[in-house]
Amino acid sequence: MSVLITNIGELVTNQPDPEAGEAGGFAAVAGAALVIDAGRVAWTGPAASAPAADEVTDAGGRAVLPGFVDSHAHLVFAGERGAEFAARMAGQPYQAGGIRSTVAATRSASDDQLRANLRRLAAEMLAQGTTTFECKSGYGLTVPDEARSVALAAELTPEVTYLGAHVVPPEFESDPGGYVDLVCGAMLDACAPHARWVDVFCERGAFGRDEAAEVIAAGSRAGLTPRVHANQLGPGPGVRLAVEAGAASADHCTYLDEADVDALAAGSTVATLLPGVEFSTRHPYPDARTLLDAGATVALATDCNPGSCFTSSMALCIALAVREMHMTTQEAVWAATAGGARALRRTDIGHLGAGARADLVMLDAPSHAYLAYRPGVPLVAAVWRAGERVAAGQARVGA
Ligand code: NIG
Ligand code: FE
Repeated sequence: MSVLITNIGELVTNQPDPEAGEAGGFAAVAGAALVIDAGRVAWTGPAASAPAADEVTDAGGRAVLPGFVDSHAHLVFAGERGAEFAARMAGQPYQAGGIRSTVAATRSASDDQLRANLRRLAAEMLAQGTTTFECKSGYGLTVPDEARSVALAAELTPEVTYLGAHVVPPEFESDPGGYVDLVCGAMLDACAPHARWVDVFCERGAFGRDEAAEVIAAGSRAGLTPRVHANQLGPGPGVRLAVEAGAASADHCTYLDEADVDALAAGSTVATLLPGVEFSTRHPYPDARTLLDAGATVALATDCNPGSCFTSSMALCIALAVREMHMTTQEAVWAATAGGARALRRTDIGHLGAGARADLVMLDAPSHAYLAYRPGVPLVAAVWRAGERVAAGQARVGA
């Protein structure tokens, strides 16, 4: 059954029209309509020339965007670290070692407890307009606990990332090399069948350049594509390693020097910025403007996790990126949709061109800019995923 959504105030398609002289990136149509058929976008254009459909929804002048693509999240965990956040806001620094308290809680949780927490967070994301999310392991750090983490994630998303190399767990404190061997050996063998990606936290206090390179190489041999936690807590080799390894994405990019920016601009690795982390750790925001002006591809994601940033809100990330990272509203919305799709090497999502998966967010607002203009306000009026209307906010849309 086809559905026509008409009277759309602003339809963000991310499909520039070269005939109208539009370059790549953000693109939108005013006074638009869109037809969904068989879970796909069948047609977009001016409302006046829309074809007929089996069912009609009146958007009442609201904006419609591609569903958000959250390309970086850690949702398989137990417990919470609210007290650690409070202590940070009272002056304590963020330390990678905090991960270990979540590891302890995760190991002692049942599969059903982990599954329930993961499902609750996935539903929270969907209600806020996130129609695709990536999900990492990394709070198990034993062969069975990492294996169940990726298996649980795979129940909800195809974008599963094996992050056995999150930190060295306490039982390997005196033998970090032995842990890297495990990550590259038996743990990888157990996780690779459930995962698409391999990730490593390349940072002082986690894994150095050579160890990270080993993890990436082993993951690649097992058929996984790399993505890297890079330059989060200080300058380091992570970003350049990610680009050299042909990683899909270098994530965080909080501390970049000129060579890092040049590498990202010259390579095919997406720079995924996670402004919620800077918000929640009081680290400085990276300057997205510098990356964009250099020609790098920028994505925005939440990094939703119980430690460094416990938001699932892509709208918050957009608002922070605009206010604190010097992105335009158009660049930030592109980065949170098409940018995330690039970081996941997906061409079927992040845009609303004909043939795209019909993943849509309708805002209770006339334009995409309201996501930053009205920060903190729940603006999502309705969400469609693969053509199915799956979640609705408070607004009554159409009839
Ligand atoms: O992306 N950087 C490493 N991992 C997470 C933090 C995890 C935690 O603090 O529990 C991150 O920030
Ligand atoms: Fe992360």
